[in-house]
Amino acid sequence: AKVFTYDPGFLSTASCRSTITYIDGEKGELLYRGYPIEQLAEQCSFLEVAYLLKKGELPKADELAKFERDVMQHTMLHDQMNHFFRGFRRDAHPMAVMVGVVGALSAFYHDVMDFSDQEHRDLSFIRLIAKMPTIVAMAYKYNIGHPFMYPRNDLGYTANFLHMMFGTPCEKYEPNPVLVRAMDVIFTLHADHEQNASTSTVRLAGSSGANPFACISAGIACLWGPAHGGANEACLRMLEEIGDVSRVGEYIKRAKDKSDPFKLMGFGHRVYKNYDPRAKLMRKICHEVLGELGLENDRLFKLAMALEKIALEDEYFVEKKLYPNVDFYSGIVQRAIGIPTSMFTCIFALARAVGWFVQWEEMITDPEYKIGRPRQLYVGSPRRDVVPMSER
Ligand code: CMC
Repeated sequence: AKVFTYDPGFLSTASCRSTITYIDGEKGELLYRGYPIEQLAEQCSFLEVAYLLKKGELPKADELAKFERDVMQHTMLHDQMNHFFRGFRRDAHPMAVMVGVVGALSAFYHDVMDFSDQEHRDLSFIRLIAKMPTIVAMAYKYNIGHPFMYPRNDLGYTANFLHMMFGTPCEKYEPNPVLVRAMDVIFTLHADHEQNASTSTVRLAGSSGANPFACISAGIACLWGPAHGGANEACLRMLEEIGDVSRVGEYIKRAKDKSDPFKLMGFGHRVYKNYDPRAKLMRKICHEVLGELGLENDRLFKLAMALEKIALEDEYFVEKKLYPNVDFYSGIVQRAIGIPTSMFTCIFALARAVGWFVQWEEMITDPEYKIGRPRQLYVGSPRRDVVPMSER
């Protein structure tokens, strides 16, 4: 008989073999295809990193130019999808819209669904990453009651995203290069993170042979939770709730109180137990963006810096190795750029779509690929007989 290991939360179960992302939680190291995240964030664009994740190697100049052209050619959504948006309530959470619209891509782009064919997989990848910024920006515009903006392919991937978010038909959006670069780095830092909850969801969904758009929609649903991608939104809401530096102590006390479910959002990580290398890069970007916009004295930024300092010195946080994670700073940066809190997780999803797709592809092309089927430790009632209704 097979022996099963009971491992709640998969703390010590490797669910797959992978060549994509390497994390050393003790050292605080993150590599994409062997390259340190620090070098990728500083020297490469997000699309360059997307190419690396997909193909396994960094592109040469002509390869990158072709990839960028291919992606930018697919930024528009099928016109019928505009109507699909209008089926949602305007006040729907944009992540609810994302779950629906990204899943619906499989209803629009089912012409290339033979996933044993490399060309079909490549085109689906291009379509997905090209359309994610358009979908996110449309979810935002729909929410605030503005008309949808068509993509501007001359701008490049990230500047075009900011144009679709903040441009209006009456006013041309002039992207600020510092903000475009900050957004691009946010995308790079979120592009993949090995077998986290949403990626595992995508793999498990895909292991049945389901199409990648449907699987990624499942990944988006998983990402939404506050313990995962929803943390940057939850972190900003927490900062707003704390409201003033004078109340930081009170919230730190609450976070340490085991009878209080409150946790310090943006702190702690399942894998990084010394520091989150993405957080270090994001912290730097955070200072650059706030400096560029003259927001160093912003109330929430000052509050966040006070919280960071107190928590880093507090015995409880030090002992449990709870450090600020990437979400702690990314929320502050996005807020400074003008992105509303409710959109943060959508932006995470936009970037992670690259990782989700690549992980899905790695799985279905693995010769050892099997449908995912975890077992359980049954702790319910032993066998018993149904008692007739009149005798219960
Ligand atoms: N505030 C207060 N206490 C905490 C926190 C926190 N943010 N995080 C963990 N702890 C405590 C926890 O209560 C536990 O205490 P004890 O050992 O006394 O029971 C101990 O630290 C270990 O934590 P854990 O919950 O067992 O660790 P985990 O690996 O299961 O959870 C986590 C990791 C990220 C879910 C958790 O730290 C958390 O909920 N943090 C806040 C939410 C957050 O910022 N999430 C974003 C994660 S990074 C982005 C991403 O990958 O999606």
